[in-house]
Amino acid sequence: MDGTAVLREVSDFIERPKTMTIGGAQVEAASGESFEVRDPSTGSVLTEVPRGGHDDVDRAVAAARAAFEDRRWTGLRPGKQADILQRVGELIKKHSVELAQIESLDAGKPLKLSSGEIWAAGEAFRYYSGWPTKAYGETNPAGDDAFVYTLREPVGVCGGIIPWNFPLIMAAWKIAPALAFGNTVVLKPAEQTSLTALRLGELCLEAGVPEGVVNVVTGFGDEAGQALAQHEDIDKISFTGSTEVGRKILHASESNLKRVTLELGGKSPNIVFADADMRRAAKGSMLGVFLNSGQICTAGTRILVESSIHDQFVESLVEATEKMKVGPALDDATSMGPVISKEQLDVVTGYIEIGRAEGASVATGGGRLEEMGDGYFVQPTVMTGVRNSMRLAQEEIFGPVAAVIEVGDAEEAVAVANDSIYGLAAAVWTNDLSKAHRVARGIRAGTVWVNSSGLYDPGVSYGGYKQSGFGRELGVHSMDAYTEIKSVWVNLK
Ligand code: NAI
Ligand code: MG
Repeated sequence: MDGTAVLREVSDFIERPKTMTIGGAQVEAASGESFEVRDPSTGSVLTEVPRGGHDDVDRAVAAARAAFEDRRWTGLRPGKQADILQRVGELIKKHSVELAQIESLDAGKPLKLSSGEIWAAGEAFRYYSGWPTKAYGETNPAGDDAFVYTLREPVGVCGGIIPWNFPLIMAAWKIAPALAFGNTVVLKPAEQTSLTALRLGELCLEAGVPEGVVNVVTGFGDEAGQALAQHEDIDKISFTGSTEVGRKILHASESNLKRVTLELGGKSPNIVFADADMRRAAKGSMLGVFLNSGQICTAGTRILVESSIHDQFVESLVEATEKMKVGPALDDATSMGPVISKEQLDVVTGYIEIGRAEGASVATGGGRLEEMGDGYFVQPTVMTGVRNSMRLAQEEIFGPVAAVIEVGDAEEAVAVANDSIYGLAAAVWTNDLSKAHRVARGIRAGTVWVNSSGLYDPGVSYGGYKQSGFGRELGVHSMDAYTEIKSVWVNLK
């Protein structure tokens, strides 16, 4: 294997005791406890991080509250806030090789993918640096005797709870918009992947984000996560993760009716029509499901193929899939890494077995990659003969498993696409312009890609229909997620 040499900064960071950023200080958990994190490529322990709990969340929320109340961030001139957010983006860029290597070690992501992720995290800060200077209010029609205007004000102290599939992008998607609209933040990264978030906490301080404005608490979901979601002094929770935990977050929000936005699971349809460019569709569908080992909430895991091209398409899909080079994250040749954990490995291989038992056939792949030692490697797997009612087609697997479903025409494709509790994303492959737009309209999902898959841009809103959640991240609509609107009436009589 042609492995990438790990930077000195990376090995130093991995080896030094990890601390959380709370109120501008680098601290251990109040309990003094920490927990192990593993390298998914080898299954071995990489390092330890603080096991934040109730007390740590309390400390972090108090710090964020104090920072919000004294307006040390909120009250800054917008141009100054913009400069600081820019600087966070620049620091991410400056440390991009280091951060990408840490992400690859921590999340098992091939280096090329980690590098793209780090770049995108920096881009999110650069994008949001444009907002403090542009979050305008309105003047409202209210008759001759009144002057009414609206103010866009920050929601207050925002909690961000994020998953392990894109650790630094997710952290950036929570912190950057919250800051852009004047809020303060407590972020809890996923327990599987805390490392780049810890670095980001440090980089925010270095960039000049005032103390207490960004706090990072590492820990488990049912401890630190739960404490944050329930906290009565948190004004808003922005959560990305499973639908199951999304429900818990919503319940926990009852305590003080905090605002909640949820970006949850998906089982996205990827529809291939007979008139599509076959090679493009096969390659795009393949990447749409196997990128990041299938651990993408928008992954096009249900591949709906028009009957007349079914066999030919499956052949192309299998061919493209078999070209994937599965291997350790830091191996230059790797195009697909391991899944995140032993638990996830068991879930994913379990679903392949469920699919077999339900009557689906394995066209390629079909289980764990045994020759890869203790790493959590699954073969990229294509299953055919799938019916949409099967668990294989209804439940989010979050691993490299594609379910191919035959459909008769566009009408049936839309019906099958919508026969899901989820509605996060969809892809449509066709060269028929009106069919593309008709199908895009017919699908109940927050994002539809035409002749592409997985594209996003910080200027384009992102989020789900149905049980894929509510609220929108990114783009102009993120302003609604991170502001309150105040109407001010002035009596002119
Ligand atoms: P999860 O939803 O349990 O974890 C996401 C985040 O929520 C983590 O930071 C976790 O610590 C936190 N959390 C867990 N329980 C919590 C609670 N009671 N209160 C507050 N926070 C809590 O996701 P998990 O267990 O890592 O993965 C399970 C499945 O979820 C995956 O197999 C996949 O199907 C789905 N998933 C979906 C993601 C998406 O982006 N839509 C991302 C990650 C997982
Ligand atoms: Mg969980």
